[in-house]
Order: sequence, then C-alpha cells, then structure tokens
Amino acid sequence: MENLAYALVQLFHNFGAVAVTAAPIAALRPACASDSARGALARLVVAAWVVQIASGVSFGLTSLHYYGVLPDLSAIARTALVVKVLCAAAGLSLSALMLARGARWSARARDRGWHALAGLGATALAGAAVLRWFS
Ligand code: HEM
Repeated sequence: MENLAYALVQLFHNFGAVAVTAAPIAALRPACASDSARGALARLVVAAWVVQIASGVSFGLTSLHYYGVLPDLSAIARTALVVKVLCAAAGLSLSALMLARGARWSARARDRGWHALAGLGATALAGAAVLRWFS
C-alpha cells in the first residue's frame, strides 16, 4: 500500500511537472498564439501548479502517515526543496494573474509572463533533480 501511495502521488507530480513547464513553452509557439489557445493553456498551467503543490505536500503527508516523521533532508536537499516551493508559489501567482488579467496586458508583457512561467517550471525541475539525489 505504501509503494502504491507514493506511486500515485508521483504520477500526479510527474505529469504536473510536464504541464507547468511544457504549456508555457507551447504558448510561445506561433501555432498557439490565438487568445483562445493561450487562455486554455493558462487554465492548464494554473491547474497544474495546484496539482504540483498538492502532490508535493502529499509526499510529506505520505511519509508522515507511514513513518510518523518527515524525511530527514540534508542542507542541500532542503535548499532544493525551498527553491521548488518558491517556484511553485511564484508560478501559481503569476499564472493566476495572467489568467485573470492577461487579456488586458500588452503582447510584450504577456510574452514575458509566459517566458517567466517556463523559467519557473525549468528551475523547479532542476531543483527536483538535486532534491532527488541529495536527500
Ligand atoms: C510545493 C512544491 C513542491 C514540493 C513540496 C515538492 C516535493 C517533492 C518531493 C518530496 C519529492 C520526492 C523527492 C525524492 O524522490 O526524494 C518530489 C519529487 C519530484 N518533484 Fe517535486 N515538489 C514541489 C514542486 C515541484 C515542481 C514545481 C516540480 C517541477 C516543475 C517538481 C518536480 C518533481 C520531480 C520531477 C520529482 C521526481 C524526482 C525523481 O524522483 O527523480 N516538484 N517533489
């Protein structure tokens, strides 16, 4: 049961990681430049950041449930986790802002927003690699 619980959490976490990083990159492609395509991608990115945060917290809750404690992380792993949490907070805030107000922004500001979202996803993915091997 424990392995199944971790695998299910990881399933959501992995697909969320793909979505938060790939969707902003897709939004910058000419094929997805229409307002409707970008609106759909913005909704996907907001939902994916929520999934990332919920599944990330679920990793900790699963450890608490089965072991009664959170994993003992090294200083490097803890720093990587903090980077991921900060990326998630910034990514959720920015994507929600773009979804709510992006239509009123200039094309340049919107492009900057998508670039920033892609960068936050990529940074969090880099943090995940460090967390995985230094924890
Ligand atoms: C609140 C935010 C987050 C928390 C609390 C969190 C927490 C975690 C934890 C505890 C693990 C398991 C680490 C291990 O295997 O030792 C993990 C794995 C992972 N996380 Fe996150 N995470 C968060 C956000 C993100 C984000 C934003 C991304 C990517 C965009 C991401 C990508 C990954 C990936 C790819 C793995 C699997 C690493 C591997 O096993 O190779 N996480 N995360």
